[in-house]
Amino acid sequence: MRVLKFASTVLITVGVSTSATLAWSQTDHSTIDVADHIALDKLIDEQGLRGNPAEGRDLPSINDPLAQLGKKLFFTKGLSGDKDVACVSCHHPMLGGSDELSLPVGVNAKRPEVLGVGRVDEDGLPDVPRNSPTVFNLGLWDTTLFWDSRLESMGQEPGQNGAASSISTPDSGLGVADPLAGPNLATAQARFPVTSQAEMRDTTFEAGSRNEAVRQHLAARLGDYGIGEGELAVNNWLAEFQKAFNLVADAQTLITYENIALAIGEYERSMVFVNSPWQQYVDGNRNALSADEIAGATLFLTRAEMGGAGCANCHSGTFFTDGETHAIGFPQIGVGKGVVNDDDFGREMATGNSEERYRFRTPGLLNVEVTKPYGHAGAYQTLKDVVDHHVNPTEAVKAYFAKGGWCALPQFEGLADCENAYPHAVENTKLAVEKTELERAFAISKLPYIWLSEKERWQLVAFLEALTDPCVKDRTCMSPWIADESDDVDNLLLIATDVNGTPL
Ligand code: HEC
Ligand code: HEC
Repeated sequence: MRVLKFASTVLITVGVSTSATLAWSQTDHSTIDVADHIALDKLIDEQGLRGNPAEGRDLPSINDPLAQLGKKLFFTKGLSGDKDVACVSCHHPMLGGSDELSLPVGVNAKRPEVLGVGRVDEDGLPDVPRNSPTVFNLGLWDTTLFWDSRLESMGQEPGQNGAASSISTPDSGLGVADPLAGPNLATAQARFPVTSQAEMRDTTFEAGSRNEAVRQHLAARLGDYGIGEGELAVNNWLAEFQKAFNLVADAQTLITYENIALAIGEYERSMVFVNSPWQQYVDGNRNALSADEIAGATLFLTRAEMGGAGCANCHSGTFFTDGETHAIGFPQIGVGKGVVNDDDFGREMATGNSEERYRFRTPGLLNVEVTKPYGHAGAYQTLKDVVDHHVNPTEAVKAYFAKGGWCALPQFEGLADCENAYPHAVENTKLAVEKTELERAFAISKLPYIWLSEKERWQLVAFLEALTDPCVKDRTCMSPWIADESDDVDNLLLIATDVNGTPL
């Protein structure tokens, strides 16, 4: 409500101040000065933003046999302990490669096929502590994965997606190569969701076992051998693996968790969505962006000392991330990540270094328009809220809780006794913001002190929305990545719907 009101106020202001009608829109470029183009071109060149972020990378097509197998695996509930969750439950192509929720609901959803707002478990409170990041453009990451960067390419070679050196994972521990990580960051990551109780495993499957035992059991389930024999009533996985790997071998040889992770990783890495209006502009089409989008881009890329917003201090490069972790004090809501009082210490959880408390990995911003809600706990619903936060974290979180905090988020609407759901959220957020302000005061932080007018903030929002590849909003364009009945290998394919039963 509040945001809508804001939006209309601004629209009117813009309309008056440009002495144009409200129909003034992205298609009218008469208000753009050539000097604006030249200034932005200069920033683009200086910051190495020419070229396409996927260029020169070794990324598969969705039509490759391994990516096709990966799609089927990504959509099967057979990889979850109780056969009720799939990867796609939290990473659907029509939900921005994410789930539209602030905090995900994994196991024990009341209606497992329902994705997005309305996906709930019995008590209505999500059990997963962090927001689900997008899997779009996963093949563009060269540094780390997860909000706390706990899965790392040890060499971080540009353009490699982790393929050129070893990878350290939560299994091997920080800075130690995981011999089972597989060839790239995507394969290494695909080993972990199945081991998380709240996401896919639940409490009874391989209770008390090590991660590796969970994976081996799941591989045996799909391969119909050993400990997993007979667990799937319908099971045609062997033929699928033989086809994808072009190998006539038995299930024990072919259906290993390493091969499962490899196929899932190839599916994810085929999701390259980079053809945004911004990309067209970078490629030389000056008509691709509106005046507001150009102003927003210029603010984004200009350093604070030069009157800009300094966003590229951290959201740098063609993928708009430095791959580093920073404390910026986003609200801390939800059950937290295993420390005291539902708190989430972020990077400190991975390193044990308290200096890194409340630092989270800088998200990439391509297609950010379709990946709401935002931040590691999904606390902000709109890009305007996110921009406001970056301008003044202390004021933004005050306003956030004054306006209802998490209870104002779509996911928590109508939840009984909502205000008492997260009794430590305000205090935890205060600690995170204090840490952020301390780092700024000591000039450790890259978050600049800035002030932006309402108009400038909306221009930043307009720029962020120009990072959207139109494909991701188009069901037909996305259909190669969405499994249908013909992809059902074990009668456990998740055909997702929204809360009203409409297929996604
Ligand atoms: C219940 C929801 C849920 C399910 C199911 C789930 N994920 Fe996730 N996924 C998340 C959350 C939450 C995170 C962030 C966790 C963190 O950073 O601590 C995440 C992180 C990721 C990332 C890292 C992205 C990045 O930019 O760092 C990838 C890739 C991913 N998931 C793929 C998968 C795959 C593959 C599966 C199935 C094997 C899967 N997910 C199942 C919720 C889920
Ligand atoms: C100090 C580094 C830094 C600077 C400077 C910075 N950001 Fe961020 N940004 C982050 C981090 C870190 C997060 C994630 C915070 C979290 O999850 O707790 C983030 C989150 C975001 C998100 C949410 C993305 C998502 O997927 O959840 C957007 C949008 C964003 N920033 C835009 C901007 C804009 C616009 C600016 C300039 C006004 C900016 N950022 C400046 C570090 C930075």
